Amino acid sequence: MIVLALDVYERERALRIAEDVREYISMIKVNWPLILGSGIGIIRELKERTGLPMIADLKLADIPNTNRLVAKKVFEAGADYIIVHGFVGRDSVRAIMELGEIIMVVEMSHPGAEEFIQPVADKLIEIANEIEPFGVIAPGTRPERVRYIRKMLKKGIKIFTPGIGAQGGSARKALEAGADYIIVGRRIYGAEDPRRAAEELYKEVRAWSSG
Ligand code: C5P
Repeated sequence: MIVLALDVYERERALRIAEDVREYISMIKVNWPLILGSGIGIIRELKERTGLPMIADLKLADIPNTNRLVAKKVFEAGADYIIVHGFVGRDSVRAIMELGEIIMVVEMSHPGAEEFIQPVADKLIEIANEIEPFGVIAPGTRPERVRYIRKMLKKGIKIFTPGIGAQGGSARKALEAGADYIIVGRRIYGAEDPRRAAEELYKEVRAWSSG
C-alpha cells in the first residue's frame, strides 16, 4: 500500500496532485513543507477532497505537555495519525497517544540515521512493543533493517517505510522485508506526470503482493 508524501508548498498544487493520484494511494502524509506553505487547514481540505486518511508527519519530539498541546491542534485539524519521535521517551509518546493514533519513528532512512538513531533502534522497538502504536517508521533504504524490525516488532504494529524512489529504496525490497506501507514523495509528486508515476508504482506493488 502506498502513502503519498505530499511535500510541496502550494495548496493548489497539493490538491491537484492528491486528486490526480487518489485512486492509487491509501493515505496522504503531510509534512512541515506543506503545512508551512499552505496552513494547517490543508489537512482537512485534502481529507475532504480525497476521502483518504491523513498522516501529519511532524516528528514531534518535545516534553509531554508540549507534545500534547501540539497534537491536540493537529488532531482537531483532521489528522488521523501523527508521526512522533520515540527517542524523547515513553512519557512524551504516551502524551500524544492519549489523544489519537500515532506512528513512531524507530529508525530513519537518510545516511545520518546511522549516527544516532540506528544504534538505539532496539530500545525504540522495545518502547513500541510496550505502548503498541498504530505503526512505526523504518528505513525503506535499508531492507535488512526493515526485516530486523519486523522480526522484533509485535505482530499487528504496521511498518511504514519512507525512502522509496528518490532516496534510492526499492518498493519491492521494502515490502519483501516486511513493510506494510511504502511512503513515496518525490518519485510521485516530482514526476512530470504524477498520476502515471503513481499508477506505475501501484502496479509494481500489486504485482508483487499478488505474485
Ligand atoms: O521524497 P521522498 O520520497 O524521499 O519523501 C520521503 C518522505 O518521508 C519525506 O516527507 C520525509 O520527511 C519522510 N521521512 C523519511 N524518513 C523517515 C521519516 C520520514 O524520509 N525516517
